[in-house]
Amino acid sequence: MSEHKSSLNISDFYEHEDVSLEYIMENVLYVEKKDDDDSEFQHLEREYNSILLNGCDCNSEKINCIKCLHGRNYKWLSEATELVLDVDKCEDLIYECSSACKCDPSKCSNRLVQNGPRAGLKVVHSNIFKSKGLISSELIPRGGFICEYAGEILSFKEASKRLKKYEQILDKNYILFMKEWNKNQVLKNPITTIIDPTQKGNIGRYINHSCDPNCEIRCVRIDCPIPKIAVFAKRDIKAGVELCFHYNGGDEILLKVQRRLCLCRSANCSGYMPYANIELP
Ligand SMILES: C[S@@+](CC[C@H](N)C(=O)[O-])C[C@H]1O[C@@H](n2cnc3c(N)ncnc32)[C@H](O)[C@@H]1O
Ligand SMILES: [Zn+2]
Ligand SMILES: [Zn+2]
Ligand SMILES: [Zn+2]
Repeated sequence: MSEHKSSLNISDFYEHEDVSLEYIMENVLYVEKKDDDDSEFQHLEREYNSILLNGCDCNSEKINCIKCLHGRNYKWLSEATELVLDVDKCEDLIYECSSACKCDPSKCSNRLVQNGPRAGLKVVHSNIFKSKGLISSELIPRGGFICEYAGEILSFKEASKRLKKYEQILDKNYILFMKEWNKNQVLKNPITTIIDPTQKGNIGRYINHSCDPNCEIRCVRIDCPIPKIAVFAKRDIKAGVELCFHYNGGDEILLKVQRRLCLCRSANCSGYMPYANIELP
């Protein structure tokens, strides 16, 4: 069985109101029930227990890792006194510094998602979406990190089983398929990461879909080859405004939902929530 021990020191003080849900601060591998010879699960388990060893050698006395092997994707926003995603320059693959790096964590400018969600997030009943939603009680600057979309990491086979089951018993879907393409020739093959926060998840599971979203999601790797799905602000977001991302942003993301009306009220609303048949092997 997998015994992934994260070396990260995430601080996350949120919890679920619903006691039947388990609050997790970061992704966990789902527990495989019977199929011991499931090669897809075994591959996931190997990945989940692997540690990335591509550390940097930065050791400057100043704020460092701006230009290091990993850096370049985040920038320091002095007005907001926080590190944010450099939305205009950000590369497809985001690697944060980790315990494999020589830099000083207190000075490194390439550690953001690993510190956990921002303060001030609140789960509310959304009058727009007629269900739960997530807001921030403080302004979030463009590029600001909000939280991870954390849940159980699934194989295609398990996702397929769960989608069929959930479609019959739930009116919502939380399973997210995140596809990374070979845009910069860095990846040999497209990688799909499947996250299910239905039963075990963090505060990210309350973010609704909008056709004109104020947030976007990106894959971020820290010490594990399986990426975290990180939610960032696409623009400045005022306090109290509901946080949303697009459930089918380009070819990369897909939160599969039953074909149903979209309630987002944006001027460019397509009328329906994104829908696609996931190709399961
Ligand atoms: C990841 S959950 C979001 C949190 C959810 N509202 C809740 O109460 O837990 C996704 C589900 O929220 C609802 N939802 C999200 N965005 C929506 C939208 N634009 N229009 C209608 N329903 C939406 C759908 O039921 C969808 O399956
Ligand atoms: Zn580094
Ligand atoms: Zn660093
Ligand atoms: Zn819409």
